[in-house]
Amino acid sequence: MAQEVRGVIAPGKDEPVRIETIVVPDPGPGEAVVRIQACGVCHTDLHYKQGGINDDFPFLLGHEAAGVVESVGDDVTDVAPGDFVVLNWRAVCGTCRACRRGRPWYCFDTHNAKQRMTLTDGTELSPALGIGAFAEKTLVAAGQCTKVDPAVSPQVAGLLGCGVMAGIGAAINTGNVGRGDSVAVIGCGGVGDAAIAGSRLAGAARIIAVDIDDRKLETARSMGATHTVNSRTADPVEAIRELTGGFGADVVIEAVGRPETYEQAFYARDLAGTVVLVGVPTPEMKLELPLLDVFGRGGSLKSSWYGDCLPSRDFPMLIDLHQQGRLDLGAFVTETIGLDEVEKAFERMHHGDVLRSVVVL
Ligand code: APR
Ligand code: ZN
Ligand code: ZN
Repeated sequence: MAQEVRGVIAPGKDEPVRIETIVVPDPGPGEAVVRIQACGVCHTDLHYKQGGINDDFPFLLGHEAAGVVESVGDDVTDVAPGDFVVLNWRAVCGTCRACRRGRPWYCFDTHNAKQRMTLTDGTELSPALGIGAFAEKTLVAAGQCTKVDPAVSPQVAGLLGCGVMAGIGAAINTGNVGRGDSVAVIGCGGVGDAAIAGSRLAGAARIIAVDIDDRKLETARSMGATHTVNSRTADPVEAIRELTGGFGADVVIEAVGRPETYEQAFYARDLAGTVVLVGVPTPEMKLELPLLDVFGRGGSLKSSWYGDCLPSRDFPMLIDLHQQGRLDLGAFVTETIGLDEVEKAFERMHHGDVLRSVVVL
């Protein structure tokens, strides 16, 4: 039996979000219905609302979520009703070329749920990133559910569904940060701070945080930054070189997504170092670099997709570390809010006032 629940939709380009009644169908083969307990508010939700992703309005927003599986389709064996799960937006197929080569984070045949949720008048909804979790319940592909320790609070577990995983993964998976490394993180929002926490976890000796906002640099310190640079008042490339014996950092993580910070990241790394790009640029942005620098500086330039994570491996591991007190995921939750406060949360995000607002249901 299809059920009716409350959910937050973005009705049209730049229109305020609102709560509507959502019709959630029974799970079909390979699907699960999940009762959402918590869902973080992410920039991507705002981009959907602004029409920056595509025009498939109305969107059912929310994609950084944890909850309890309520029902599953016939052939689902990996998760069962009652399981506590974190949702992810890239359920890898396991059989494409990337998956077979052992790099499932590049899977190009991800199996997210087909879009079958509607408004009560039958209007089809587009769930954000194939999830749509600013809702009491949502329909997803069973492969988007990863079971984790039910002792952890949903508001913390849900963070792994997007930004925090992207940042930690940028450091530990893509950047391969190792014991004793020097790391510079440019842009200390939720993603950059997670990259800092991930670098600390990996044993980095020196972690240099760069931002244009002193408030962000203060938080970065509490996440594990050993040095901070305000790039409004100091040249970040020079400062990073100075702090790394003149060489540049072993790993530079860019978590802004702008040409000038991409360029800073490129020049702030050690000759043999690695640049990890996790900040997402817009289509019109361009970077011009002298080819001799591209050729001559060696090292590597890598982009990080959702922290190159493997949910089944990384979610339970990070929750273990959190439960043991070795990674403070709770530090990313600035405030918990209700479904009716998403619009306000977007405003606070826009002003840089929060790391994460988390909707708790
Ligand atoms: N130099 C340094 N820091 C900057 C600059 C700049 N030129 N411009 C902005 N920043 C800082 C902001 O002050 C803020 O602290 O970058 C940070 C960006 O943080 P958020 O806006 O909170 O964004 P976040 O959620 O962390 O995501 C960052 O990663 O995954 C991507 O799509 C995401 O592109 C986005 C990026
Ligand atoms: Zn695949
Ligand atoms: Zn997100």
